[in-house]
Amino acid sequence: MKEVEDRYPFLKACRRRPTPSTPIWLMRQAGRYMKEYRALRKKYSFLEMCKNPELAAQVTLQPIEKFNLDAAIIFSDILIPLEPMGVEFEFAKGEGPVFRHPLREREEVERLRLIEPEEEIPFLMKAIRIVRKELEGKVPLIGFSGAPFTLASYIIEGGHSNNYVVTKSLMYQDRPTWDALMEKISEVLIRYLNSQIRSGVQAVQIFDSWVGCLTPDDYEEYVLPYSKRVIEGVCKTVPLIHFATSNSTLLGLMKRAGGDVIGVDWRVDIGEAWGRIGYDVAIQGNLDPVALLASVNLIEKEVKRILDGVKGRPGHVFNLGHGILPNTPVENVAALIDMVHEYSSR
Ligand code: CP3
Repeated sequence: MKEVEDRYPFLKACRRRPTPSTPIWLMRQAGRYMKEYRALRKKYSFLEMCKNPELAAQVTLQPIEKFNLDAAIIFSDILIPLEPMGVEFEFAKGEGPVFRHPLREREEVERLRLIEPEEEIPFLMKAIRIVRKELEGKVPLIGFSGAPFTLASYIIEGGHSNNYVVTKSLMYQDRPTWDALMEKISEVLIRYLNSQIRSGVQAVQIFDSWVGCLTPDDYEEYVLPYSKRVIEGVCKTVPLIHFATSNSTLLGLMKRAGGDVIGVDWRVDIGEAWGRIGYDVAIQGNLDPVALLASVNLIEKEVKRILDGVKGRPGHVFNLGHGILPNTPVENVAALIDMVHEYSSR
């Protein structure tokens, strides 16, 4: 594995090894801000694109062909494993995911299926194999999943939520159902991530996008054991990035849950956050995605601030603090990537 890592700055940084410059990739780097993506989206729905291996591979490669990125991330969605588990959803126009039957009862949770990803999500595994062939010798490929809490919140709320009232109420008031759901999701995620690794991804990221709504105590009590279980269950041959948003008070606990790299959002000072998390793990982040809508001068100022903050310490992967926004100008993305490479060059 080390020989493969040696070739790629992104993989080296995940292992806290020195690199000639700081590697960069962007969460949601394949997507609506690119005209190539929008052109395909005119012909196919989002889920059709996810489920067609050739299309998913093509979309994964679009940002790699256009920009000087240091890693690709497979085009898919954190919700993909839910359908074979027995949770139906659709992407309503302009609304994000909508679930027809949110689950809140113990019996419904018991009925959820433990999936065999290679057999039940073959399109993703095939897309990974196609992309790996195309990328050989260029950049490594990242696989991903949601984290147990974020997926549980979608299943329970039935879509996006502002206050997570239903999720937290179930968590507080029906512990057996909460534990049964988190256990089931965790087992599925271990299988799902290991299948992606067997299919060829060279790193994995776990997105705990909505966990920032919890107090540190609640995270420790209701979530940490499951995130930890997933991370411990994932094959250690590839680095694992553990990402959450609104997570400044959770950073120490996230580290306890595990990960070779901790992904932080833009609300924290990255240098200070790294000091708090500890230099025995790598760090990823953390430009505010909205900065990419501003001038190149502002982006430059922010890039310098972030790079100065980590002081050239090996183990920083540059990224946004959350996914790239659909109205981001592509020329700003290109400028950002060049700036990061240039200013961090050592
Ligand atoms: O990073 C990448 O380029 C890989 C692809 C990727 C997508 N979703 C594609 C996508 C990844 C890593 C995700 C993760 C994801 N999906 C998360 C975690 C990351 C985060 O942003 O917090 C979450 C919460 C989801 C669930 C999801 N998928 C939502 C809430 C939405 C609707 C909101 C939106 O941005 O439209 C999606 C749809 C989605 N997933 C799109 C893409 C490119 C847009 C689909 C379209 O073309 O309309």
